[in-house]
Amino acid sequence: MKICFILGTRPEIIKLAPLIKECEKEQISYNIIHTGQHYDYLLDKIFFKELGLNPETENLKIGSGTHTESIGKIIQKLGKKLRTLKPDIILVEGDTNTVLAGAITAKKIFDINPKIKVGHIEAGLRSNYYEMPEEYNRIMTDHISDYLFAPTKQAVKNLKKENIPKDRIFLTGNTIVDAVYQNIKTAETKSRILTTLNIKKDNYILLTAHRQENVDNPKKLLGLIEGLKRLSKNHNLPIIYPIHPRTKKRIRDFHLFSRLQQIQNLIITEPVGYFDFLILQKNAALIITDSGGVQEESCILKVPCITIRDNTERPETIKIKSNILVGCNPKKMEKGAKKMLFKKRKWKNPFGDGKASQKIINILKEKNEV
Ligand code: UD1
Ligand code: UDP
Repeated sequence: MKICFILGTRPEIIKLAPLIKECEKEQISYNIIHTGQHYDYLLDKIFFKELGLNPETENLKIGSGTHTESIGKIIQKLGKKLRTLKPDIILVEGDTNTVLAGAITAKKIFDINPKIKVGHIEAGLRSNYYEMPEEYNRIMTDHISDYLFAPTKQAVKNLKKENIPKDRIFLTGNTIVDAVYQNIKTAETKSRILTTLNIKKDNYILLTAHRQENVDNPKKLLGLIEGLKRLSKNHNLPIIYPIHPRTKKRIRDFHLFSRLQQIQNLIITEPVGYFDFLILQKNAALIITDSGGVQEESCILKVPCITIRDNTERPETIKIKSNILVGCNPKKMEKGAKKMLFKKRKWKNPFGDGKASQKIINILKEKNEV
C-alpha cells in the first residue's frame, strides 16, 4: 500500500508533521509531495528543518498565482507525478488550494488506480462565509474524500448535515494539538525570541493577519490599522507582528506603510519559525489573529484571543470563551481587547488529546489502507 502526503503551505506542514512522524514510528513507508504553493524559507523549509521532516521532499514548484492558476498548475503537475507514483491513498490537510487540487487530482487518475482513496485531515470545518476562498475548498474536498477525519463533534455534525455517509466520518481530534504538545518543550529550550525582541512574558500582544478577505480589502485593512492604533494608545504594550508576505505586499500596494509606522509600540518582523512562534504565543498577554491555526493554538496554550473576522470555522473557541470575534472593526477591537486581556484562562481545549495522528493511522490500519 502506498501512502502519499500532499502539502504546500505553512499550516499544512505543521499539521501533517505529527502524522508523518507517526508513520515513521509505525514503519509505514510514505511519500511527500510538496506543491510549492509556499516557497519562502520562512514559510516553508524552516518547518521541515525544525519538525525533522525530509528537506529533499519532491517539490512541484508551482509558486504563486491566481486561484485558478494555482489549482490548475497543481492538477497538471501532480497528475503526472501521481501517475508514476501510483499511490493507493493520498492524505491532505486543511483548506488551501493545495488541498482541493490534491484531492481532485487523486480522483482523476482513476485509469491508473480506480480504487485510489483520499483522506481529508481536519474535515468538516465550516465558516458558512462564502467570500472566504477556503470555504469552497473545504466543501469540495470533503465531498470527494473517502475518509473524513473530523477534529471535533461540531465538524462531524457539519458533515452529517451535508449528507456525507456516516461510515466515512471519523472523530479524531486535530493534529495541531499533537504538534503543540510535541514541540513546546523543544521550543522552550531552543527559542530566544523574547530576548531578541526585548519583550517580557505577559507583557505584549501578538498579532497575525493574512486572510485574503481582510488584507486584500483596503477598507478592512484600514480598519485593522485603526484598531491597532487604538490598542497601542490604550495599552502600553508592544504589539509583535510577524508579517505574512501577502499582507506585506498589500500594504505596499495600498501605500499603507507610513500609517503602520505611526503606530507606537508596533514591532513588525519577518515570519518566524514554529519554535519561536509557539513561544511568542505561549507568553503573550493577548493574541489578535485571523489565522485558523492560531485560533486553535491560542486556545490550546491558554492565551486569550480576539479574531479579526466576523465568523469562524472554529466555533468551539467562541463557545468556551477563549476567543471572540471583532471583525476589522476598530471599536470592537478596542472593546474586545479590554475584555480579553483580563480573561481568566480556565477553558478546556476542545481539539483533542494530542493523539489525533495515532487515531488516524490506527483507522487507516484497521481499514487495510496502510
Ligand atoms: C494560503 C492559503 C490560506 C492559508 C495560508 C497559510 C489558499 C487559498 N490560501 O494563503 O488558506 O491560511 O496560505 O499561510 O490556499 N507569497 C510569498 N512567498 C511565499 C508564499 C506566498 O511571497 O512563500 C506571497 C505571494 O505574493 C502570493 C501571496 O503571498 O501571491 C499569497 O500566497 P498564496 O499561497 O496564494 O495565499 P496565502 O495568502 O499564503
Ligand atoms: N506560524 C509560525 N510562524 C509565524 C506565524 C504562524 O510558525 O510567523 C504558525 C502557527 O503556529 C500555526 C500556523 O503557522 O501553526 C498557522 O498558519 P497560518 O496562520 O499561515 O495559516 P492558517 O492556519 O490560517 O491556515
